[in-house]
Amino acid sequence: MRQTVWTAVATATVWCACGQMMTTPDAGGTGGGSTAGGTSGGGSAGGGSTAGGSTAGGSSGGGSSAGGSAGGSVDAGNPDELTPAELTQARTFSPLPAVPADTTNAFADNLAAAVLGQRLYFDSSYSGALAIGLDAGTGLDGGNGGLGAVGERGKVACVSCHASPSGDDDRTSPNHVSLGTDYGTRNALPVVNSSFYKWTNWAGRFDSQWSLPLAVAENARIMKSTRLEVAHLLFDKYRADYDAIFPVPLDAALASTAPDAARFPASGKPKAAATDPDGPWELMTAPDRAIVNRIFANYGKALAAYMRKHVSRNAAFDKFIAGDSTAISASAKRGFKVFVGKGQCASCHRGPNFADDAFHAIGVPQRGDRVPATDLGRFTDVAPLLTSAFNTNGDFSDDKLTGKLTGESQQASQLGAFRTKSLRNLSTSAPYMHSGQFATLEAVVAFYNAGGGQVPDGGTLPAEIRPLALTAQEQTDLVAFLKTLDGDPIDPALTVNTSR
Ligand code: HEC
Ligand code: HEC
Repeated sequence: MRQTVWTAVATATVWCACGQMMTTPDAGGTGGGSTAGGTSGGGSAGGGSTAGGSTAGGSSGGGSSAGGSAGGSVDAGNPDELTPAELTQARTFSPLPAVPADTTNAFADNLAAAVLGQRLYFDSSYSGALAIGLDAGTGLDGGNGGLGAVGERGKVACVSCHASPSGDDDRTSPNHVSLGTDYGTRNALPVVNSSFYKWTNWAGRFDSQWSLPLAVAENARIMKSTRLEVAHLLFDKYRADYDAIFPVPLDAALASTAPDAARFPASGKPKAAATDPDGPWELMTAPDRAIVNRIFANYGKALAAYMRKHVSRNAAFDKFIAGDSTAISASAKRGFKVFVGKGQCASCHRGPNFADDAFHAIGVPQRGDRVPATDLGRFTDVAPLLTSAFNTNGDFSDDKLTGKLTGESQQASQLGAFRTKSLRNLSTSAPYMHSGQFATLEAVVAFYNAGGGQVPDGGTLPAEIRPLALTAQEQTDLVAFLKTLDGDPIDPALTVNTSR
């Protein structure tokens, strides 16, 4: 969706059932009965069909024959079956379209870049010393799967925290955060289908898939590497791959034996604060820093090209929409009715990725030994995004005119707000929420049924997050529906460690 010109701040992207994309004005997606995605209370008709931009069906009343040809069966005599209006709305969630183009990454769909990205994804050799190790018995690793002995280097790769079938962290226990060289601050996100989002990470710290790996590599709690180490890694192990993809070949001075090797020290990244003493990075010449920054951005672009291939489609729900009325159970069908009706879930979880690309404060708790006591979400994360040299407006973006960041700024409404999470492939992405608070989908549904949680001071709970009074059966049905969203596994070739 990055090819879209983001016309205004308060714009939500809506997918229509035909796979085209529309933008609709949207006040943050929180208003009850909001236009896009068309949740409408109590199963009333209409909203969904217009929001999807669907022309099929046309008429708006509940009595319309909007069923069209695709998807599900209409059996007026059976209350478990979807009504024509519900079917019209259901079709706004499926099928999952092609991964949106990313014009900010000229190598996004370059096959050789994806091949290099795969090698890098599995390569741990450039990561720094572990602060928390495999302290079997002591509990220091929190049961979270330390990656080696304390002090050991070269132990953390992207795949360390993204190895489940959905590309999530299969080590993280509930009320915990992901463990790399040290504890991070949040629960890992699945990589599968992550290229469908407008913003990357729980609080949208990044505006592209390619800029995320850069911060991850240098984060002292995740991989604890530096951009100079990344440049040397590419030169030492992947030079031929790199030079075959990117227009400017790796600088020969990156060879340790080069007469001018001193131009590129073995490690270094920008100092944390302007008042800190200069390090190896600051002592380099400006043109040499620019060379390394370009290599660093290309590292991210190769990884993004690889991650774009992590797509999972064809969930039972998609098969149902495609016309197989028996692909999902009666309980799941009733669960869909709750999802778009009484549960109001679809006011935020909408479109084929079940996410509105917006941020909402729903009051997920911050409980657990390693979970930070507070996390202000988008409020905190938008600031470094706007000043990043690697954002989509920056020199390393291949399309500075997306307008994506136009009008973005830090605002009180973002306090405690997180990005609506996709609901595809939930079976392999527990624990749930940014702070890993819930072990099961039943627990998530109970949280919503109770009216969400406490938002940080100054934040606002959206109107839909209120006690829902769902019966036990409705909660069971909702979970049954969520379980119909598990798609096909990704291409097994993508899970092979091709690092050198
Ligand atoms: C220590 C574990 C860890 C490692 C190592 C790690 N990640 Fe992650 N990843 C996370 C966590 C935690 C998040 C969510 C962070 C947040 O929202 O603040 C995340 C988020 C992501 C996302 C965002 C998905 C979305 O829905 O927006 C992508 C993509 C991703 N990681 C890719 C990578 C790549 C590529 C690497 C290697 C360069 C990597 N990760 C290394 C833990 C890890
Ligand atoms: C106001 C918008 C909004 C509404 C309404 C809403 N959600 Fe969410 N949902 C979110 C946000 C935001 C997150 C991520 C929150 C976080 O991690 O702090 C989320 C996360 C989730 C997750 C966690 C997924 C994961 O992988 O961690 C599930 C499951 C979920 N929602 C299901 C539902 C269901 C079911 C309903 C209806 C009962 C619902 N949501 C209603 C915004 C919403």
